[in-house]
Amino acid sequence: MIELYLDTADVEQVARFSKCLPLKGITTNPTILAQSNKGLNQTLRDMKSVLGNNPTFHAQVISQDVQGMVEEAKQLNELPYDMVVKVPATETGLAAIKLMKLEGIRVLATAIYSAQQGFFAALCGADYLAPYVNRIDAINGCGIDVVADLQILLDQNGLETKILAASFKNTQQAMEVMKLGIEAITLPVDVAAQMFAHPSVTPAVEQFRTDWKNSFGDKLSFES
Ligand code: G3P
Repeated sequence: MIELYLDTADVEQVARFSKCLPLKGITTNPTILAQSNKGLNQTLRDMKSVLGNNPTFHAQVISQDVQGMVEEAKQLNELPYDMVVKVPATETGLAAIKLMKLEGIRVLATAIYSAQQGFFAALCGADYLAPYVNRIDAINGCGIDVVADLQILLDQNGLETKILAASFKNTQQAMEVMKLGIEAITLPVDVAAQMFAHPSVTPAVEQFRTDWKNSFGDKLSFES
């Protein structure tokens, strides 16, 4: 089954969606944490309390150089949660990923804008790849094609690296990548909400209620 994450540090929204969706955990990035004004430790504590059941947390290194990234990854990996360390898939990041894998740290290569960039990160041992679907679309690329090409390269090379598709602005983008058979996805809260929000759903449910009430009043199904 696909691993489903929310891309947020908003604990109230995670509590809301954890009730109705099988969330595997949350993904964050430096921008998301900066906007929430809460540090990583507080965020993970809060998230664990609403998610329970050993959620997986993806958190990104801030260090800029290889040794710093590796040391930071070790610290993140020591946190008392199921952690995956996010590393930008740059030249420096790939060098760091190779060393992190020697330490047995689980890694997500992030900020992926092309299939070849993601493929190289997978060859370096990344456990997850995060192609930025909407951001690719926004620069006149095709996020769906990048994800499709990446999945072909992974399959052809027998790599177990999972694509964790990220950066969505609408449900269509999310649906198109899920149809490719990717193994993980992270949705922003507004896109997760849109998944339920087809305009015809509420009128359909209200019509059921009206028809029932007209015939059976306040009786419940088993009382009729
Ligand atoms: O986690 C990073 C990725 O999801 C970026 O998303 O919405 O900022 O393009 P966005």
